[in-house]
Amino acid sequence: MKTIDDLGDLQGKKVLVRCDLNVPLDGSKITDDGRIRASVPTLRRLLDSGARVLVVAHLGRPKGSPDLSSSLEPVSARLAELLGQPVRFAEDTVGPEAQAASEQLGNGEIALLENVRFNAGETSKDDAARGEFADQLAALADVFVSDGFGVVHREQASVFDIAKRLPAAAGGLVQAEVEVLRRLTTDTKRPYTVVLGGSKVSDKLAVIDNLLAKADTLVIGGGMLFTFLVAQGHEVGTSLLEQDQVDQARGYLAKAQQLGVDIVLPTDVVVAPAFAADAPATVVSIDAIPSDQMGLDIGPASAEAFAKIIRNSATVFWNGPMGVFEMAAFAGGTRSVAAALTEVNGLSVVGGGDSAAAVRLLGFDEAAFGHISTGGGASLEYLEGKILPGLVVLEEQS
Ligand code: 3PG
Repeated sequence: MKTIDDLGDLQGKKVLVRCDLNVPLDGSKITDDGRIRASVPTLRRLLDSGARVLVVAHLGRPKGSPDLSSSLEPVSARLAELLGQPVRFAEDTVGPEAQAASEQLGNGEIALLENVRFNAGETSKDDAARGEFADQLAALADVFVSDGFGVVHREQASVFDIAKRLPAAAGGLVQAEVEVLRRLTTDTKRPYTVVLGGSKVSDKLAVIDNLLAKADTLVIGGGMLFTFLVAQGHEVGTSLLEQDQVDQARGYLAKAQQLGVDIVLPTDVVVAPAFAADAPATVVSIDAIPSDQMGLDIGPASAEAFAKIIRNSATVFWNGPMGVFEMAAFAGGTRSVAAALTEVNGLSVVGGGDSAAAVRLLGFDEAAFGHISTGGGASLEYLEGKILPGLVVLEEQS
């Protein structure tokens, strides 16, 4: 895969950079700026080399036309703060404002283009429509840098088609993410523990399938644990349950036994009568979940057992919170797992999305983890062994 070094002297060159700036917003307030911060080193490097930088990115899933509730303007302001220099904001992606930015930026200056998904061509399934939009994007710049790791699993114009139209290279973030994920799939140091949480088993099927063949231990928490408990014959009260996945979960338990992989489930859970921050919380054994209560976190004994397994591992990959970490009464399991990851003597990886947000919300120092991925879906698809279009297209360039 080509890197920025392979692009030669960038002084005065127009560089179009795909970033993943898809951050959670409350109105126009950014509630977690992790992805913006992760984009800064590559942008800083390009600016310091005298490039004229045009950033293309998406926010949310607008349906191919402008929708101001997913404008990137608030992101532009935060990016300017983090870079410590002005960021020109273009109110379109390939229209007159973007073209003016492309023509007028000076060396070492930067503009952010409006949400690329306001353009139907970006996500079109029709190659010609996507190609036509990619042509318009390509006309803005001399070279392309792919640094939005969180979108490399998308065959979209600003990720995939553009890389066929301009000299293209991976940015530092994409390089770093790929290097870490490679260590989770090849020559992985053992013991290798995978910790999965989050609400749905159905989101994690392919990754469980693939990692059962690689990991030594699979630890399961979060809403998805109740489907596994039912597969083992437990009653789970009003807890989240994917009834149609119970057979699948039973199949995984059997497959793990055949492969000699330990699937570790909690022995206790925190239950409450309602999904509410002030609902009275109680700790019960998994054999005693009341029929009118729901499990909202793993219990303290399980949290300690999970933490011990994690601390004793040489490689840990964690994706998905253990409970409803946004509510203090149900954050204990996620906090214990996160704390244990900071104590791993080896490689600890927090896999994107909600787990990365949890680490920051619970106040952990990000530097204490081996790596916090910016890609939720992208890192899972990589670990599922899928082909990621945004990476393949960069490899083809080499
Ligand atoms: C993400 O949030 O995982 C990435 O930004 C990709 O977003 P998408 O799932 O809407 O393509």
